[in-house]
Amino acid sequence: MTQVVLTETHGKVGLIRINRPEAMNALNNDVVDGIGAAIDAFEADDNIGCIVVTGNEKAFAAGADIGFMKDFDHMHAYRSDFITRNWERIKTARKPVIAAVAGFALGGGCEMAMMCDMIFAADTAKFGQPEIRLGTLPGAGGTQRLPRAVGKAKAMDMCLTARFMDAAEAEKSGLVARVIPADQLLEETLKAAAVIAGFSLPVVMMVKESVNRAFESSLNEGLLFERRAFHASFGLEDQKEGMAAFVEKRKANFRNC
Ligand code: HXC
Repeated sequence: MTQVVLTETHGKVGLIRINRPEAMNALNNDVVDGIGAAIDAFEADDNIGCIVVTGNEKAFAAGADIGFMKDFDHMHAYRSDFITRNWERIKTARKPVIAAVAGFALGGGCEMAMMCDMIFAADTAKFGQPEIRLGTLPGAGGTQRLPRAVGKAKAMDMCLTARFMDAAEAEKSGLVARVIPADQLLEETLKAAAVIAGFSLPVVMMVKESVNRAFESSLNEGLLFERRAFHASFGLEDQKEGMAAFVEKRKANFRNC
């Protein structure tokens, strides 16, 4: 049987590939559970400092698998805890997760990309929340994360008209961190992930937690969270090493402690 989720390691970077090319990488339980298992494994691996999730050149993922869910009734969706049960493992990852998106990231695919800490897009990328065409609505965070990323006007436009947003507009609107020529997407994303993985892992985790706090709290609470994390960094050997290395004009050798 084809493995619908493939993993590789590239130095200190863990790569997760969604692998259902025949269905535009549509997300079913096997895919979502596979991504969850891969995240679990990379989180538990002390040699990994950053995770990349990608699809193929045509699709990151064209959404939840429509055939898989089309006959669900309300009670099945509710009692099986559809989405909540297994879709949000990326959200709880403590190591940074980058989505490398080429081609379609639609519906649940767009939502999964937005669960990642940042999105690097190929110039071929197309984002959308077209669920309205199917008589339903975004159910994995699209109505919440998209407005936070691109603002209410564009989020309403995308969710209500089902139009797609191309990579250039996505970058201009703040949905994606970088746009990269499609043939260099993976290489450039892995490079950026390796930069992150080369820093002190506890500091990387504190930075991620602190930035995420900006979306969960008032400014003053967020600032307090940041300040406490900043103070805590002075308890790290890596802080001593990082600052000593600067003063001694050498490269820091972080030991993740
Ligand atoms: C199941 C899908 C699929 C999907 C594509 N395929 N998207 N199968 N679920 N979401 C399948 C097609 O049925 C087809 O299979 C094959 O992939 C190739 O797709 P085509 O449509 O032939 O390709 P193309 O003409 O290039 O169009 C690509 C596309 C289109 C624009 C991405 O496939 C499309 O509109 N897909 C649906 C997008 C969508 O509505 N996403 C939201 C899903 S709802 P066969 O066997 O015919 O070759 C959702 C809910 C989120 O995500 C809520 C919580 C998660």
